[in-house]
Amino acid sequence: MSDLSSRPNRGIARVLRERRTVHDFTTVEPPLDIIAEAVDLARWAPNHYRTEPWHFYLLDRHTGARVVELNADIVRQTKGDKVAAIKHKRWSAMPGWMVVSCARSDDEIRAREDYAACCCAVHNMALYLWDQGIGMKWTTGAVTRDRRFFKIIGMDHAKVYVVGMFWYGYPATIPTQHRKPVGEILSHVVSESSEG
Ligand SMILES: Cc1cc2nc3c(=O)[nH]c(=O)nc-3n(C[C@H](O)[C@H](O)[C@H](O)COP(=O)(O)O)c2cc1C
Repeated sequence: MSDLSSRPNRGIARVLRERRTVHDFTTVEPPLDIIAEAVDLARWAPNHYRTEPWHFYLLDRHTGARVVELNADIVRQTKGDKVAAIKHKRWSAMPGWMVVSCARSDDEIRAREDYAACCCAVHNMALYLWDQGIGMKWTTGAVTRDRRFFKIIGMDHAKVYVVGMFWYGYPATIPTQHRKPVGEILSHVVSESSEG
């Protein structure tokens, strides 16, 4: 059996720490074989009872454009023409489009665990892409809950829901982020030994 502790991999720590949600991309479309590799790696995420509850939908340019139109329609209803036009322009500039769905379950615990598994899969994908120089943005806006969105993507609303829509591409800018110090989020739980 190999001794994992003797093979520290600083590379993964760097990727975990440095990955950022990217909001602005260059116009260059990442190669599809890298995206396919990311999905291949995503499916190795932990999933309780091996339900593999995820499905990945890679949208072509025309399908992405249909989502842009639908979103602009939705935004127009709630926020007016001006905001809709801004969103339309911004979304039209996104180089890569992916949607991830999760299988619905009537069992509350299964549903929670399946969502958790999907999030692990998404992060596998995000980390691999980051290591390839490709950034991602996870979005869960109103459009991802709209029945017309399900129709465009070809998802069965009775069977799946949307974990997220993901834009990917080469970062034009990389935002900075902060996290709480470890001391604020880590508690050492110590018990007296029950032995002796
Ligand atoms: C479930 C989920 C939904 C998210 N939805 C959005 C979103 O709709 N819009 C957005 O700008 N970022 C969204 N994000 C990204 C977060 O805003 C981002 O992860 C957070 O700001 C921390 O930044 P980082 O990813 O660079 O560490 C989402 C993240 C998760 C996990």
